Amino acid sequence: MKRSCPSTTRLVPAGSSRREFMALAAASIASPSLAAKREALSLSAAARAAGLSFGSSIAAEALEFRSYGRLFASEAGVVTTDYALKFDALRPTPDRIEFGQADDLLDFATRHGLMFRGHALIWNENAPDWLKRRPASEIGRILDSHIDQVVGRYAGRVQSWDVVNEPFWPDHGSPGGFRRGPWFDALGPAYVARAFRRAAAADRRAKLVLNEAFTERDDTLGRNVRTRLLALVTELKQAGVPLHVVGLQGHLQPQYAADDQAFLAFLEALAKLDVEIYITELDCDDIAFPDDVATRDRMVAERYESFLTTVLKVPAVKMVVTWQLSDRFSWYRSREVMEARHMKRAPRPLPFDDLLEAKPARDAMLRAFASRQV
Ligand code: G3I
Repeated sequence: MKRSCPSTTRLVPAGSSRREFMALAAASIASPSLAAKREALSLSAAARAAGLSFGSSIAAEALEFRSYGRLFASEAGVVTTDYALKFDALRPTPDRIEFGQADDLLDFATRHGLMFRGHALIWNENAPDWLKRRPASEIGRILDSHIDQVVGRYAGRVQSWDVVNEPFWPDHGSPGGFRRGPWFDALGPAYVARAFRRAAAADRRAKLVLNEAFTERDDTLGRNVRTRLLALVTELKQAGVPLHVVGLQGHLQPQYAADDQAFLAFLEALAKLDVEIYITELDCDDIAFPDDVATRDRMVAERYESFLTTVLKVPAVKMVVTWQLSDRFSWYRSREVMEARHMKRAPRPLPFDDLLEAKPARDAMLRAFASRQV
């Protein structure tokens, strides 16, 4: 496949060691005269120079692609589990728990000196059928023991946990717009605080994150979720719940209304609630863009740059994580999602293409990181 962005320097030339790469990164950061080599910096080094961390999610299956692992090692400073630490991945049946994939991912992160984010302890979506069949009276105990066991197993080795994922889904019509599912249906909104308190008791060092989708949209859904999220975070903080970070997923969807200034105001309102902010699942849906690959890649890059430049104006934003690094491993490429969206072409939502070559979105991210006044 033609390099989609010939001007972009490959990060770490084949064969050079991580030590040599880090020496280049350190030299480039330390000496402004070497700023011209900035584009040779990794996304992670450029993010660090802007006072934040950069990383990406990865699925355990991707570890078999050693070149992909090398791309993470050279570009990322953080790795988030895509599926391996979700309730349905860990507990396919009520009587066993499968830590193998999560252990492999933690070993990978440790080997490459990457911070490790666990995603996601409690989510009302994708719950296994056996959990949905349990009586409401058992759900609280299951929540407690799940968090004790999973957070306890990795205590001290996880930089942050997405403790509760996607608490809101207004279309479910529940009071307060909460997303329905086994946890909410049995425990009501109180499941959120219960999960955070349980996770804090199991690992005092991990940062605890409330992770939400859609807030980057400026349509009815996005504005609705922003309002409800601000109210929930206010309530949790006033109750003394150990909530340290709000994760905003950042699945950019240009086919819907967006207003980066309105989103900036939302971020500033969040930051006043004494929480840090992570962009936790950044990618850009190109479904509404033309077929031409160069045009699509350029438009995706423009959206990345506009969004990140705005977001990075807020000092409380401490991390940017993409949802995979390469188009080849994007969730938009899954058969389930492709069929549901009647896709006839391969989505290109990420900073690296199928051959792990850098795309314009990578340069756009470097420019956005460099735009941050630290
Ligand atoms: O690994 C199993 C495999 O062994 C099995 O044969 C196969 C058949 O069912 O399933 C495989 O697991 C799939 C898993 O991805 C790993 O590929 C699950 O079925 C599938 O549901 C799961 O989809 C993930 C989805 O969340 C639901 O957990 C996507 O990869 C993941 O990208 C997506 O990520 C979510 C975030 O967690 C929350 N924010 C939205 C984001 C995108 O939907």
